[in-house]
Amino acid sequence: MNSSASDSDTAGNLKSEKLVEDIFADLQPGDEANIECYTRHAEKYDEGFCGLQFENPKRFAFMALKHLKTSSVDKLALDICAGTGLMTEELMRQGFSGYVDAVDGNDTMLEVAKKKAIFRHLHRMIITPDSRLPFPDNTYDVALCCGAFSPGHLRAECLPEFFRVLKSGGTFVFNTTNFNQHDNKALDEDMDVANAVLSRLEKHGVCKLMESMTGDCFSLLSNGFKYKNGNVDLIRCYIKL
Ligand SMILES: C[S@@+](CC[C@H](N)C(=O)[O-])C[C@H]1O[C@@H](n2cnc3c(N)ncnc32)[C@H](O)[C@@H]1O
Repeated sequence: MNSSASDSDTAGNLKSEKLVEDIFADLQPGDEANIECYTRHAEKYDEGFCGLQFENPKRFAFMALKHLKTSSVDKLALDICAGTGLMTEELMRQGFSGYVDAVDGNDTMLEVAKKKAIFRHLHRMIITPDSRLPFPDNTYDVALCCGAFSPGHLRAECLPEFFRVLKSGGTFVFNTTNFNQHDNKALDEDMDVANAVLSRLEKHGVCKLMESMTGDCFSLLSNGFKYKNGNVDLIRCYIKL
């Protein structure tokens, strides 16, 4: 009995690995093409990511809720690049009871998210450094951006706009990814730009780093997983001053 249960677990895990490898293999540098490729993967995205124990949403939710000083009732959160909504599902699982809006550039991912009925509003838009989000200044208590700062996805120059829509005292949690499916030079350049933008924002008194941590993005990987070398992410939590 035990051995067949574990065989089927392994098979399930390998199936999830294949689903996630297929997504990563599809992610070519280049703005809109990358976002479009999620259309092919939206229906199976959760099966792949959850099957490999996607850890980042748990860490994000924990950090965000820790810095939310009062009850989350009536608080507003923004899930940036929300995809199918895994980040918000975890936020709610950990006790957030306010409202969450979603923004993402891929319609099909948002359709999957919509079926979960966890979002107040869903906005489809591709966010570029020139974009203005369709929200007034100082709207949100929490902003989360999980799994979107990577080459061909979201550019670090968009960061100031995310602080604009955050209330003073609100928290912003995000990660820089290191999936290793792109050359390291691109990842290093992205990280350099993010660090430069954040230093400038801190210097101008816009925000302050509260905490950061590194950890495995997926905790259930076999040695054969193609992108295992790049599985470590840096997660940072900022407060808007
Ligand atoms: C790896 S998924 C992460 C989804 C979700 N946050 C999660 O943690 O499961 C990346 C998502 O970011 C979206 N995305 C990437 N770059 C974007 C951009 N510049 N503007 C809007 N959405 C973007 C994609 O459409 C996709 O749904």
